[in-house]
Amino acid sequence: MLEIQRRLGEARHVVVFTGAGVSAESGIPTFRDALTGLWSRFDPAALATAEAFRADPALVWGWYEWRRAKVHAATPNAAHLAIAELARRVPVLTVISQNVDDLHERAGCRDVIHLHGSLHAPRCFACARPYDGVLDKVDAGDEGARIEPPRCRRCNGRIRPGVVWFGESLPEQPWRDALAAARDCDLLLSVGTSGLVMPAAQIPRVARQQGATVVHVNLDPQPVEGDDEFTLAGKAADILPRLLASPGR
Ligand code: OAD
Repeated sequence: MLEIQRRLGEARHVVVFTGAGVSAESGIPTFRDALTGLWSRFDPAALATAEAFRADPALVWGWYEWRRAKVHAATPNAAHLAIAELARRVPVLTVISQNVDDLHERAGCRDVIHLHGSLHAPRCFACARPYDGVLDKVDAGDEGARIEPPRCRRCNGRIRPGVVWFGESLPEQPWRDALAAARDCDLLLSVGTSGLVMPAAQIPRVARQQGATVVHVNLDPQPVEGDDEFTLAGKAADILPRLLASPGR
């Protein structure tokens, strides 16, 4: 911990790369944790692909609306707040998130790079125009509700969630920005991610290849190689505030 705090104190550009685990303490389920992860209870092929949306738009839209309601009912936790605090202390900090929630922004982080899109940016499935209507209020208890998606005002196509589905490419500009930040940083904190989903999982590796220190913060200790990679095991909401406590910044 002391050595990581020292490096954090000297860093010029810090990247914080986050996954579902950073929002776990806010009550947002992760994907791959046994029992509690979304993919242990739901079939991604039936909910997170364009084919699934074509086959049953109300099922897919209802599932994402339920997830959006859960995020709406949640608040940022100590990990999100610590990252926002770190952004005030280091010269440059870039948050790259795989999460589709807005908890980093609500904690005070700006210009968050969302690699997998956002629950809050629906767009037309047919013409891709951003949806400018008002979404109905959905209750966080409405798991499994079927909801017809609204229609696009321009082409009458169905509105789809603004997230990246399996089989789809990452949004181009965020991906370019993320790679540039990973190449430029001198320290990268990888927080609450299984690191299994490509290409996002390349980000810590790119940073490492460029000589940055990489620190994994995860419930489970992560494998590390060499003197410039560290793992801190525990809840992000416990570890990140401790990392910010003196010494260091
Ligand atoms: P995963 O569910 O794959 O991994 C969550 C990670 O967070 C695991 O390694 C857990 O050990 C860890 N974790 C859980 N609770 C934690 C806590 N309180 N503090 C610290 N760590 C904790 O989630 P992601 O890695 O984000 O893709 O998954 C990557 C992508 O797979 C997601 O963005 C999503 C999913 O399919 C899309 O939606 C495109």
